[in-house]
Amino acid sequence: MSDEAPKPVRIGLLGRGNVGAAFAELLSDRAGAVEAATGRRPELAGVLTRSEGDFSDILARSDLIVELMGGTDPARQYVLDAMRAGRPVVTANKQLLAQHGDELFAVAREAGVQLRFEAAVAAVIPIIRTIQESFGVTRIEKVVGIVNGTTNFILSEMGASGAAYGEVLKEAQRLGYAEADPSDDVTGADAAAKMAILARLAFHTPVDLTEVPYEGIESIQPDDLAYAKELGLSLKLLGVAERRDGGISVRVFPCFLYGGHPLAPIEGPFNAVMVEAPAINEVTMSGPGAGGLQTASAVLGDVVSILAGDTPVHETRTQLPIVADVPSSFYLHLEVADQPGVLAQVATVLGDHEISVKSVVQRGIGADARLVMVVHECLESRFAAAVRALSELEYLRAPARYIHVVEEEF
Ligand SMILES: NC(=O)c1ccc[n+]([C@@H]2O[C@H](COP(=O)([O-])OP(=O)(O)OC[C@H]3O[C@@H](n4cnc5c(N)ncnc54)[C@H](OP(=O)(O)O)[C@@H]3O)[C@@H](O)[C@H]2O)c1
Repeated sequence: MSDEAPKPVRIGLLGRGNVGAAFAELLSDRAGAVEAATGRRPELAGVLTRSEGDFSDILARSDLIVELMGGTDPARQYVLDAMRAGRPVVTANKQLLAQHGDELFAVAREAGVQLRFEAAVAAVIPIIRTIQESFGVTRIEKVVGIVNGTTNFILSEMGASGAAYGEVLKEAQRLGYAEADPSDDVTGADAAAKMAILARLAFHTPVDLTEVPYEGIESIQPDDLAYAKELGLSLKLLGVAERRDGGISVRVFPCFLYGGHPLAPIEGPFNAVMVEAPAINEVTMSGPGAGGLQTASAVLGDVVSILAGDTPVHETRTQLPIVADVPSSFYLHLEVADQPGVLAQVATVLGDHEISVKSVVQRGIGADARLVMVVHECLESRFAAAVRALSELEYLRAPARYIHVVEEEF
């Protein structure tokens, strides 16, 4: 047996921004703990930014690459080159994984190296590890997540203060919860990329990001939130990935939840993910979904897993089709003339489409009235047809507004 101390692990760091700088500091602070846990002391072999370092040089001097640059170009090429050169890779880059997952996993398999990406979804919440490892052979039926902290902060504030979307967005930007260009977050695109990653892992199937429809929160009106409160509902931007009719459905949309739902209490810039399977019932994890130090902590956890030799399962076992038309319950907001018989006409249209009403709130507004209701679950195509029929009623004063509702009781 050799008495020689094990060699340090040389880490090549691509990107030293919010997360990269926090990672470099955490790595130095926790080097002793990493050594105690894995037997090898980590050290930085080199850092690449736009103004320092050379990728080939850093790769040659590293045992493991940590990619914290963001974007897909040149990050994709660097990650592929690193894996082909036999280096395991840790990344926090959700767009890279969501857009190029097939290619990246194939190369990781061919090269026999690990590709870890815990921080790419819900930052510090260990949801990737849980789905890949703890639930790696569990038949997961559904994953529901609040996977974007910016939109959760905005919706929580709108609900609490009654302020309009634009006003709350400015406040979120002032507090650093929203970027100067918030479009990726508020349109639901960021959440769609994260749900594509979770769905791939949960259902062991390739998920094409272009097949993940998403809606954002820009058109949410403060009065929708106020009426919904009366109906016992709170609003979240939800990502839902579920098995349906032999295929899967993966989508992102604003959605009302009843108070008993495990995700209903998640307020502010937090994330939470709920996994459902017969063998586990329902498991929900919540925590900070962003932040330099928090994200860096998840990245360091991945480094430790690689050094410890744990191999995650990222097999795609089958190609499941995307099912586009799925059932949902809806909140429906109608402005109508305040005249006898109008409610009956609305009820008739809904009845004709086999849609039944769960609860209604009615308010007078001058000569008009607002009818706000929750309808029971029906196929989305059927609900869309009912909304089209309602828009033809002569008593309707403004286009119908509607938002998904999760009706499930917990
Ligand atoms: N921030 C969070 O809370 C959070 C949470 C979860 C996941 N993530 C993910 O973590 C990753 C990093 O995010 P971040 O917030 O740390 O980003 P950031 O602050 O913008 O930092 C990016 C870093 O990468 C470097 N970089 C970018 N393009 C480069 C290029 N073409 N060549 C060389 N260097 C380049 C930048 O160099 P310069 O310094 O020279 O500009 C900078 O150091 C992203 O994938 C992000 O999605 C972030």
